[in-house]
Amino acid sequence: MPKPIRDHLLQVLLDRSSDYLSGTALSSQLGCSRTAIWKHINELRADGYEIEARPNQGYRLCNQPDRMEAAEIKALLHTKSFGQSIRYYSSLDSTQTAAHQWARSGAEEGALVVAEEQTAGRGRLGRSWHSPAQTGIWMSLILRPPIPLTLAPQLTLLASVAVAQGIEQATGVSASIKWPNDLLLEGKKVCGILTELRGEQDQIDYVILGIGINAKGVTHEWPEEIRERATILPTTKRKWRRAELTALILYSLEMLYQQYMDEGFAPIRTQWEARSSMLGERINARTGKGFVEGIACGLNDHGALVVTTSEGEQHLLYSAEIERQA
Ligand code: BTN
Repeated sequence: MPKPIRDHLLQVLLDRSSDYLSGTALSSQLGCSRTAIWKHINELRADGYEIEARPNQGYRLCNQPDRMEAAEIKALLHTKSFGQSIRYYSSLDSTQTAAHQWARSGAEEGALVVAEEQTAGRGRLGRSWHSPAQTGIWMSLILRPPIPLTLAPQLTLLASVAVAQGIEQATGVSASIKWPNDLLLEGKKVCGILTELRGEQDQIDYVILGIGINAKGVTHEWPEEIRERATILPTTKRKWRRAELTALILYSLEMLYQQYMDEGFAPIRTQWEARSSMLGERINARTGKGFVEGIACGLNDHGALVVTTSEGEQHLLYSAEIERQA
């Protein structure tokens, strides 16, 4: 559950990490008792925050674990609205489910749900999404785009470009995009995106962009079927943190979303195509209606994948599983 006092306390400790802050000053700043401050300091310590306490001087944050707390993300965030309102959970069934509930009860565009762990993470096509504690970025962003329902898949493509940009900035590695929305490192999946929406007739009420990144952790603990196909981000000399990567992705998302609203899909398509892993190659696609074999030529104006068969026939794929031909 979101904890406003803990969140505010952590934010103050992060902002003023070079100062000692007395229990009395903190309790009046946060509008709670000194006992409540002491309780939350101990909870933060139990979660790995190193907080020094000096008699007559107070508390000071000396070391942070790699956590996805709202205050951690906000301290690094340079957006106007994306991620400015965050609900953080240490454990949750799925951030998608929580985001749907929040959106239905009026959450604003840019509101974000994050969790350290998901116990029932959801993937595309009804699959489950392995979301172990403290290793990934499991987040759902609420959008309210003024676009027709039919254009919603473009937002998934936009999100995959934004995540690739964020990963590149934080870690220096360049992830490629496998249509529609998987991010790959050396052919293995490092991120998946699940776009869900609610709308009526042709009007979108809200969109939930669910982003799952296998950021850190030990792959040998994963179930075997995932180990074969998925990977984690590299550890680099400069130690990046998950909250930092999240803030970078939110910034890229907001920039691209603004560009999309101002200029339409064309500039997003160009950036997506530049990062795509399979354009110009022979692929096999499994759609709801059957199989298509051909060359992946690019995206059309709606974001559908254009595949040309050897007979010269063009197919537009809106939803499918694709593989490079052996
Ligand atoms: C895929 O199948 O590739 C999409 C995976 C999406 C996983 C993310 S993790 C955060 C959000 N919450 C979920 O339950 N799923 C998405």
